[in-house]
Amino acid sequence: MRMSPQTLLATVGLVADGEIGSGVAARAISESLSESGDNSVPSLREALIEAGVVHRKLEDYLERSRFSLHACSKCRKTYRIRDGEESDGAKCPDCGVRLASLSVGKTPPAALAADSGTTYRISAGRRFGHFLLDRRIGKGGYAGVYLARNERADRIVALKIFDNSGDLSPEHFMRGFQRETKAGMRLNHPNIVRVYDYGWAGKMPYIEMEFIDGESLADRVDRGGAIEPREAARIVAASARALHFAHGKGIIHRDVKPQNILLSRTGEVKVSDFGLAKLSDPDVSSTSKPTLVGTPMYMSPEQCRFEKLNGRSDIYSLGLVLYYALSGRLPYPEGSLISLIHAQISQTLPPLPARAGADMEPFEKILTRATTKKSERRYETAGRMADDLQSLL
Ligand SMILES: Nc1ncnc2c1ncn2[C@@H]1O[C@H](COP(=O)(O)OP(=O)(O)OP(=O)(O)O)[C@@H](O)[C@H]1O
Ligand SMILES: [Mg+2]
Repeated sequence: MRMSPQTLLATVGLVADGEIGSGVAARAISESLSESGDNSVPSLREALIEAGVVHRKLEDYLERSRFSLHACSKCRKTYRIRDGEESDGAKCPDCGVRLASLSVGKTPPAALAADSGTTYRISAGRRFGHFLLDRRIGKGGYAGVYLARNERADRIVALKIFDNSGDLSPEHFMRGFQRETKAGMRLNHPNIVRVYDYGWAGKMPYIEMEFIDGESLADRVDRGGAIEPREAARIVAASARALHFAHGKGIIHRDVKPQNILLSRTGEVKVSDFGLAKLSDPDVSSTSKPTLVGTPMYMSPEQCRFEKLNGRSDIYSLGLVLYYALSGRLPYPEGSLISLIHAQISQTLPPLPARAGADMEPFEKILTRATTKKSERRYETAGRMADDLQSLL
């Protein structure tokens, strides 16, 4: 079935109304794209964001649970008072002492000192399950990421809260979600963001993970443009080591992109979102229907064709990440979804722009081996790619 832009918008409307889930819509749209040559259809993500669908439910939920923290100066217990409720005259139920608001800077709880030595203060927080949310760190297509404190485990974490605005019951959503998140939880590597836990609060599923105090590679390039070649080699080599480790455990990332490579202030490199990864175990992948997982800008040709993937698909995506880091721009222009898919499948990677004083030749060689369209001609393993990059350091 060929989908016109009008039908696409109607589909987006159905997602907005909660009639169908964005996953179902993505499938319908990608199926229609594979049968049409229509390049006027924008990417699903853009259309969804434009329609304001993606984060609406999440924001609504958080808005409803907004509160501030108050403390009793005598027994030191803390209480949450909903915003809008009378807090001025509130007294401690145990001591009868008037509660004082815990505002920024007044009472930095010791437990909030992160490993990096920076102190984070949660003052007027919002509650989410057993978490206290601080500021929002980032926002992706399907989730918001918050700096939060896990009150039960007494630790600072990054909490990724998903928008489940679709057609799935909590049990249904959780089943698929658990399988994928459990895969991420098994990975313990210095270049992989640790996943501590996952769960469900209100109607929102979440993933609790290690908080990386820094920025993503995407943010770094946005801020400062192309990255100095040695530094780019270091970042991408560390990412390749992370992928190599995951591949060895049968896990393919499927969504390697600069937004998922986090750089800490202390120089660490950590790949995130292995939660999206599915086990490459044939039992699991054969029962799951193909869905549009990944970002068209970094998708491998085989991913665009919905073929079965192996680790070399991640190597291709990482090659494009390297190109982006070195040049500050995407190799294939951001156009419609269909034109991007076409470029991933058949357009040769353009040469890197020249850089004064830098020999880009060795990088070109690495890029060719990583991003060649035929997967069997790529690096055999991500470890090999890491070795080649490391030799440039
Ligand atoms: N563990 C973390 N620690 C610190 N910042 C994080 C962490 N995880 C994510 N972020 C920040 O939040 C942003 C949004 O992350 P998220 O994974 O939701 O979206 P994305 O990767 O940009 O896109 P997508 O929706 O396709 O996954 C990231 O780009 C990053 O800047
Ligand atoms: Mg991400």
